[in-house]
Amino acid sequence: MDKYTEQMLQLDREHVFHASTHLKQYANGEAAGRIITGAQGICIQDSQGMELIDGFAGLYCVNIGYGRKEMAEAIYEQAKKLAYYHTYVGHTNEALVTLSKRIIKMAPEGMSKVYYGMSGSDANETQLKLVWYYNNLLGRPNKKKIISRERGYHGSSIASGSMTGLPLFHAHFDLPLDRIKHTLSPYYYHRQDSEMSELEFSHYCAAQLEQMILNEGPDTVAAMIAEPVLGTGGIVPPPEGYWQAIRAVLDKYDVLLIADEVVCGFGRIGAPFGSIYYDMRPDLITVAKGLTSAYQPLSGVIVSEKVWRELENGTDAWGPFGHGYTYSGHPIGAAAANCNLDIIERENLIQQAADHGAYLQQRMAQTFAEHPIVGDSRGVGMLHALEFSAHKQQRTQFDPNLKVGPMVAAACMQNGLIARAMPHGDILGFAPPLVASKDDIDLIIDKAHHAINQVMDSLVSSKQWQAK
Ligand SMILES: Cc1ncc(COP(=O)(O)O)c(C=O)c1O
Repeated sequence: MDKYTEQMLQLDREHVFHASTHLKQYANGEAAGRIITGAQGICIQDSQGMELIDGFAGLYCVNIGYGRKEMAEAIYEQAKKLAYYHTYVGHTNEALVTLSKRIIKMAPEGMSKVYYGMSGSDANETQLKLVWYYNNLLGRPNKKKIISRERGYHGSSIASGSMTGLPLFHAHFDLPLDRIKHTLSPYYYHRQDSEMSELEFSHYCAAQLEQMILNEGPDTVAAMIAEPVLGTGGIVPPPEGYWQAIRAVLDKYDVLLIADEVVCGFGRIGAPFGSIYYDMRPDLITVAKGLTSAYQPLSGVIVSEKVWRELENGTDAWGPFGHGYTYSGHPIGAAAANCNLDIIERENLIQQAADHGAYLQQRMAQTFAEHPIVGDSRGVGMLHALEFSAHKQQRTQFDPNLKVGPMVAAACMQNGLIARAMPHGDILGFAPPLVASKDDIDLIIDKAHHAINQVMDSLVSSKQWQAK
């Protein structure tokens, strides 16, 4: 390791508190660190001269790829003109007005206004408050519970972390809040009854949701929050007919639907929004990541006409809406988002995500369908997951202590590819920037294939696994 890297990492270990990290092992040097020094296109570079293909677009957010000069210029121009002013009591700025009009135009039918934040977590926090306020306005003070799903991911603040359905984000933090309930996740690969068709499984999930609403009492359930495609929980597209079945249950009990589009929004699955792709007809939508391709932190809550009408009337009764962030509607974030949307439009990246996404899905299926340790290969658009299995036919999981997922991700890294070991289960996630070419996709798959074979060989030679 060169001197610069060594010193910088040492200072980092002494002063920086990292997310999702084993704090002690990192502080004492047992766990590795990496200094990222630059990035271009779909690749990032580190301080030791290593170049890696970023097969996960950061945290599925750098959709337009890295190093876009035009983005830097848009941010610079906005900072020179107006670096900041707040959006309280009717103050606004041109970048924000332009952006909001564009978002509403792209969004599914019936959407009315956008409330801005800085992260997916804070936007989902806002969602919860809107839903509670809405039901208070309608004179339904008991209708406050939120149904989320096991394996859903909605952030890691108190409310959004509660809505997240992964134990890692709850245990030892006194979460979830008790108004948040988790229903069955639409994880067809893990269905208990292997005879069930996808459609039957979707109806089973909807029946479970209905039972939960009935058990809790329909007059206590305010909303369901869900990602169109489960992301951090394992990259799981919904089974056939899922959203239609879920929507019918929500309509029956007057329960709002919040579509968390933080990953799917702005093209990731080859449509402007996942809710359009799956015809979810949400009442509220959360956006972040792809809105600026992460060149600036910016998130939004898109509010439907139906909800907006009540909020608007509410201010007659209760006065100004008491919710605000200093940086809400930040002009530099808005300028970055406008430039990002310009690039997406000009380069036709949503259609490209559909076309290259179809190629990604087909190449993955072709490469891994018969692979002895790949139990499931699934995805939609530019999202894909490979789930490893000790016994393919029986869908048996590997012993979690073997850490097969993280081992494969580490082997990918050695081969110059970042693919993400998803936090729950032996699952390798792919979400390349939307600008990835078909040749890039081939390279990503070749490198992943090589890494998976390396791990399989090492499992065999250490007698930890053998083909059945
Ligand atoms: C679907 C979804 N919602 C919310 C979030 C939280 O966003 P943030 O990390 O910006 O708070 C994420 C982050 O990965 C996400 O995938």
